[in-house]
Amino acid sequence: MSVRELGYLGLETTDLAGWSRFGCEVLGLATARHSTSDVCHLKADDRPHRLTLRAGSKDRLAYAGWGVRDGETFESVRLRLDSAGFETTPATGAELDERRVQGMFWTTDPGGFRVEIFHTPILDHQRFISPVGVERFVTGELGLGHVVLLTDHYEESFDFYTRLLGFRMSDSMVLDKRPLRFLRCNPRHHSLALAPHHSSRLAHMMLEVPTIDEVGYAIDRCRQSEVPIAMTLGRHTNDMMVSFYMRAPRGYEIEYGCGGLCVDEATWSSQEITAVSFWGHHRELK
Ligand SMILES: [Fe+2]
Repeated sequence: MSVRELGYLGLETTDLAGWSRFGCEVLGLATARHSTSDVCHLKADDRPHRLTLRAGSKDRLAYAGWGVRDGETFESVRLRLDSAGFETTPATGAELDERRVQGMFWTTDPGGFRVEIFHTPILDHQRFISPVGVERFVTGELGLGHVVLLTDHYEESFDFYTRLLGFRMSDSMVLDKRPLRFLRCNPRHHSLALAPHHSSRLAHMMLEVPTIDEVGYAIDRCRQSEVPIAMTLGRHTNDMMVSFYMRAPRGYEIEYGCGGLCVDEATWSSQEITAVSFWGHHRELK
């Protein structure tokens, strides 16, 4: 596989102060040291930052950063994209400095999402200390979590992520006549899921915590902060995650869960599932 992890996400927000507060007080992420009045960097572990929030005119996923093993792999992915006709743009010095990585280029996937390929994150060796006491997030070799993208170029996007970036399909399903594919780039069952839609947008992102108690505390924090619960607690059928979904300020949803399945590459075969959840995940918000 070429891409190894979901490394970081950039979000444009019309409510920087609200999102930053939500990120710290509800999700339990920590503000990183080099945040400014226009940009807020949030930590989830010992990486310099995992989420970057930038004040803007829309609420959207601005970019997803996908990490590769080293500079050599980075070059081979760039050549593969170039020869498949995808324009690749090297990061500026300011972008490298902000992402805190040694190398990055970006391209646009068939659905219009900005995809950043990076290698060699530059560590700051600052411990993650959650402002609300979250013990830790499950990251490491599994990456930050997962994103589910609704895309107006479904088959082309599947081809882009699998054939060009090296993702493998873990599961697929058809939900209300709409297909959905779950893709992995490390043992996490999926770091990316794709579903067709008339317009491309982020459906949700997922953060994993180590215990059901951490999930329960997050449900309580939503209640205290009056953050809407989009879907109730439930267990997914494919990655076995016990999770709930909350509504991020003015936008998409955040899945917050524990117990996600790790795939054994030697034995896993892709399968088709026919329900999203064994129990729960009842929709509270349209
Ligand atoms: Fe999810």
